[in-house]
Amino acid sequence: MLVDRVPSILAYWDRDLICRFANRAYESWFGINPDDLIGMPIADFLGQELFVKNESHIRSVLDGHEQLFERTILGPDGSERYSLVNYIPHVMDGEVLGFMVLASDVSKLKEAEKNLQTEVTERKRLQAELVQSDKLASIGQLAAGVAHEINNPIGYVFSNFGTLEDYLGKFFQILSAYEQAESSISDPAVAARLRELRQAVELDFLKEDIPQLMQESKHGIEQVRQIVRALKDFSRVDSSDTWQATNLHQCIDTALTLANSEIKHKADIVKHYGEIPEVECLPSQINQVVMNLVVNAAQAMGAVRGCITIRTGVEDDQVWFSVSDNGSGIPPETLKRIFEPFFTTKPIGQGTGLGLSVSYGIVQRHNGAIDVTSVPGGGTTFHITLPIRQEKLLAEAEQADA
Ligand SMILES: Nc1ncnc2c1ncn2[C@@H]1O[C@H](COP(=O)(O)OP(=O)(O)OP(=O)(O)O)[C@@H](O)[C@H]1O
Ligand SMILES: [Mg+2]
Repeated sequence: MLVDRVPSILAYWDRDLICRFANRAYESWFGINPDDLIGMPIADFLGQELFVKNESHIRSVLDGHEQLFERTILGPDGSERYSLVNYIPHVMDGEVLGFMVLASDVSKLKEAEKNLQTEVTERKRLQAELVQSDKLASIGQLAAGVAHEINNPIGYVFSNFGTLEDYLGKFFQILSAYEQAESSISDPAVAARLRELRQAVELDFLKEDIPQLMQESKHGIEQVRQIVRALKDFSRVDSSDTWQATNLHQCIDTALTLANSEIKHKADIVKHYGEIPEVECLPSQINQVVMNLVVNAAQAMGAVRGCITIRTGVEDDQVWFSVSDNGSGIPPETLKRIFEPFFTTKPIGQGTGLGLSVSYGIVQRHNGAIDVTSVPGGGTTFHITLPIRQEKLLAEAEQADA
């Protein structure tokens, strides 16, 4: 009675592999009456396939070695039991007379283990995201500091430069007036000295070169100002991190400026911007997504200079943007894993494997979606959609109105 109450299966097989005992549980596990099992050879019960699978365990247990292994056992209704199977040798006077089978259904445990595993993975992902956002926050602070420090001096250099240009214009004006007056100098010695001096300093060349130098320098200062602006953009929104209606094109351009040093030697950027409305987002984070994508795209280029194409558009109540490259592409087995935290194919020190997982998290937070298509050897496209308006903010606004 006792063994028939046990939900595990219990049986005894003798040396000749004939069943001598089986409990009731065989009925629910295999749909077989245990009384019919008595006297049955084990090969008949298990069937050819399962017998072959268990053969080595059977041989070992008959050699006197206890066996413990896991098996997925198919029930009569097709259900699966994940089981822990135990073969225990029946030894008497040093002789193995047969063996006992004890198998327990551990599906629930297995399920719990799987859930735990998923939870651990999820936790790891969150932690990675946290580390990354921490990193971002300190980069943001540093950027803000640097931007602030550079902003002032570059401001007066820029403004002085304008004034200097203006003054130089006046100098040139008066210089040409002097030049014109040169012919009317009556003292030949003075005239000759002037002519000599003009030639010695190469005045004609200076008149040509100075405006050009000014032009180039002005361009350089303009670039510095742009970088500083990008840094400020990046850090300002990063520190406040508030949802705001954002011009996505500006956001992308900022990211491109920040990532410029990573891209410029590898690829050209082509933009196909559509007409899109402002998007409610966390601009610094979208910035980060774009940066991760374009840097990855640049890193996917080989020896040949490549092309990164950025497109934007709108569809219903969503805007989308895509980053395409004609780089290495991603093989299918890698493609499955690219959003995993710490998954990287780059050498140690080059990639942390966080870029895409963090981007994924950010897009998720925006209730958007991120998709990827890739042709190995042909290139990769990441496609991101974002809702134009965030439901949460709408609800908050309505609440505030009420
Ligand atoms: N555009 C792309 N072309 C080819 N492979 C890519 C591309 N984008 C991502 N990958 C692959 O996905 C992996 C994961 O990318 P992810 O940005 O998450 O990490 P990483 O670039 O390796 O490191 P990190 O971004 O932290 O510096 C990369 O190592 C690379 O194998
Ligand atoms: Mg990356």
